[in-house]
Amino acid sequence: MTFDHPAVTVIGLGSMGSALATALLDRGHPTTVWNRTAHRAEALAARGARPAADPGEAVTASPLIVACVLDYEALHGVLEPVGGSLEGRTLVNLTSGSPEQARETAAWARSFGAGYLDGAVMTTPPGVGRPEMMFLYSGSPEVFDVHRPTLAALGDPLHLGADPGLASLYDAALLGLMWSALTGWLHGTALVGAEKTEATAFTPFAVRWLTTVAGFMTAYAPQVDAGLYPGDDATVDVQIAAVDHLVHAAAARGVDNALPELLKHIMERARAAGHGSDSYASVIEVMRNPGGGR
Ligand SMILES: NC(=O)c1ccc[n+]([C@@H]2O[C@H](COP(=O)([O-])OP(=O)(O)OC[C@H]3O[C@@H](n4cnc5c(N)ncnc54)[C@H](OP(=O)(O)O)[C@@H]3O)[C@@H](O)[C@H]2O)c1
Repeated sequence: MTFDHPAVTVIGLGSMGSALATALLDRGHPTTVWNRTAHRAEALAARGARPAADPGEAVTASPLIVACVLDYEALHGVLEPVGGSLEGRTLVNLTSGSPEQARETAAWARSFGAGYLDGAVMTTPPGVGRPEMMFLYSGSPEVFDVHRPTLAALGDPLHLGADPGLASLYDAALLGLMWSALTGWLHGTALVGAEKTEATAFTPFAVRWLTTVAGFMTAYAPQVDAGLYPGDDATVDVQIAAVDHLVHAAAARGVDNALPELLKHIMERARAAGHGSDSYASVIEVMRNPGGGR
């Protein structure tokens, strides 16, 4: 171990864990690895990783342990028997889960005198190691500061706050945004595809449009925070009229309409709650108060 390149252990060598270990090796960190199915460590060993025989050996090999397994059940199955070995070390958990699971696991690690950061990887394995990729962390700011230079080997380390549940919370919120955007893009692609436009021809327009949409989000965020939604650009009523065109165009071409129908329904609930002449940002009121405004 050197001061610049502290030793790291990676537990879990699936697609993501292997990418994490590879990025650490590429940056010159002495890296110990362990996986339930041992042969998945072989390719990493060929690149210089040290395979540990069992989780106990893996934990004691390094001051920093990065865990990335399928879920929290698997995580606790691996680490519970060796919890005492975590004392004085830091566990960075990049396994996906809920904010509640993150908080429970932070308390569990603390009970052994271990530091704990919960994390969310906002990329797929090929993006690991690229400095522009977001890696979200939550938990002790002091622990984050100590390990920040090492975590920078994986991507851009962003600390959200001391509450260990925050990374999972942001992760879920950002995945929801991703699924909405991707599904909207696929719906639009099916629509133009019904008139023989290929996805590769449509997509540059979709990507450029998303930049404009990002501008709407930036403009609407202060409205959401203030709870005031001046309808001085495009009102909810105007958007409801526009979504009808989408519903019609899709129906006429035999394209599934579940997504636009859902969006129209949400907009109509905002109108029913009195937001017809407000900006689209007022739809947040439907999200915050799902039982009201009908
Ligand atoms: N892939 C992505 O793009 C991505 C992006 C962000 C976050 N994540 C998160 O990263 C985590 C890992 O994802 P992945 O894509 O690497 O999945 P994966 O390729 O399916 O790997 C799963 C890993 O979990 C281990 N595992 C499963 N059950 C276990 C158990 N009961 N005990 C011990 N180890 C167990 C597997 O070990 P074996 O090899 O022995 O089966 C393997 O190392 C997940 O929480 C996922 O949500 C993934």
